[in-house]
Amino acid sequence: MSNKPLNVGLVGGGKGAFIVHPHQKAILMDGTRRITAGALFPDPKIALEEAANWPYPIKGYGSYDEMIAANASLPADEKLDYILIVTPNFVHFDPAMKAMKAGIAVFCEKPLCLNLKEATELVKTSRKLGVPFAVAHTYLGHWTTRLSRYIVQSGLLGDIRWVDSYYIQGWLATKLEATGQQQAAWRVDPKRAGGSGCGGDIGTHALMQLRYVTGLEVTEVSAHMETFVQGRQLDDHFTIYCKLGNGGKALVRASQICIGHKNDLGIAISGTKGTLRWRQEDPECLTIHLPDQPDRVYWRGAVSPGDGFLPKNVPADLMAEPTIPSGHPEAFHDAFARLHRCFEADVRKWKAGRKFTSDGSKYATVDDGWTGLAFLETCLKSSKKKGAWVAMPKKI
Ligand SMILES: NC(=O)c1ccc[n+]([C@@H]2O[C@H](COP(=O)([O-])OP(=O)(O)OC[C@H]3O[C@@H](n4cnc5c(N)ncnc54)[C@H](O)[C@@H]3O)[C@@H](O)[C@H]2O)c1
Repeated sequence: MSNKPLNVGLVGGGKGAFIVHPHQKAILMDGTRRITAGALFPDPKIALEEAANWPYPIKGYGSYDEMIAANASLPADEKLDYILIVTPNFVHFDPAMKAMKAGIAVFCEKPLCLNLKEATELVKTSRKLGVPFAVAHTYLGHWTTRLSRYIVQSGLLGDIRWVDSYYIQGWLATKLEATGQQQAAWRVDPKRAGGSGCGGDIGTHALMQLRYVTGLEVTEVSAHMETFVQGRQLDDHFTIYCKLGNGGKALVRASQICIGHKNDLGIAISGTKGTLRWRQEDPECLTIHLPDQPDRVYWRGAVSPGDGFLPKNVPADLMAEPTIPSGHPEAFHDAFARLHRCFEADVRKWKAGRKFTSDGSKYATVDDGWTGLAFLETCLKSSKKKGAWVAMPKKI
């Protein structure tokens, strides 16, 4: 296999942009991927200036259309292996479609796109063309999230009765968008964010965390999407009571008006045998509570299979995933790196004409992105009916 680093092209990321920076660090983390090109801003002149000012040399393009079109005529070692879409939600669908049609794999920020109609087209196109497609649900990349998934899906907590999956923030407790703050401005605008503000922005992370760790699907929702800050068009508080496929129940909740909460994402899962708790602000450990026993705290990189709770046969690939010894903390950037690393493996297989799995076990897929949009649209329907139970649509 070639050890040439994969070439990544950015869509978005210029002038004060946020999430491109954790991504670009994560892309560079292993030395096996690099950013080689970018269409960094909607205005072509500024896009080129921003590319020229990038901390290391990249090829700048005036638009993502140009970047994708130019790819066909580049020499093989300069062609893009995947694009990373880090634009606001209304600029996800178009570059993702165009990249897939040009034979370029896609790593797209969440939520996947603006609505279920777009999501359906993206799923169908990626299936038809067989192009690898990841969605950036960051917190799946924490090793402790991987271990949580193993614990829950191996049945070590028994049958799952209750899940509380949450993402609570406070940064939109005032009308920050009125100050022109870049990240706030588009997040509260339905044309650029989609039909849900808080739900789309961070409720989708809470949903993905629930689905990834438990393997369970939400079947019906009773939704309360509320707006506390006067004059805001979209929800800034998102509380969803859910029925799960196994007969259990869950709360998927998100808020952006809870002053003092920063990126307070976490999950508590209770089964018939015990409870698991994890928080991303303390992401290196998870806690297991079993009846009449002292709590067990599992640290990344310091797990002993066959310890009386974990079986002896914890999968070797899971045990091998941590990058540095425990006590040297991994965090947000490492979680992103783990997702890019796993996506890279699939892109390399695809490029070599080999089968790649992209089954959602290593990173969120376009199908997971679709489920996020299906969830949001079902919540919107339920919330309009004052929290009446509404069923999720059938998977495509
Ligand atoms: N996974 C996560 O943890 C996480 C965290 C934050 C944001 N996000 C998602 O990432 C995306 C971007 O969010 P952000 O906070 O970084 O936004 P941002 O406003 O900070 O950055 C968006 C960038 O896109 C650029 N852009 C807009 N339209 C463009 C176009 N047509 N062509 C090229 N560039 C264009 C903007 O100029 C800016 O550089 C959103 O979808 C958001 O939901 C995900």
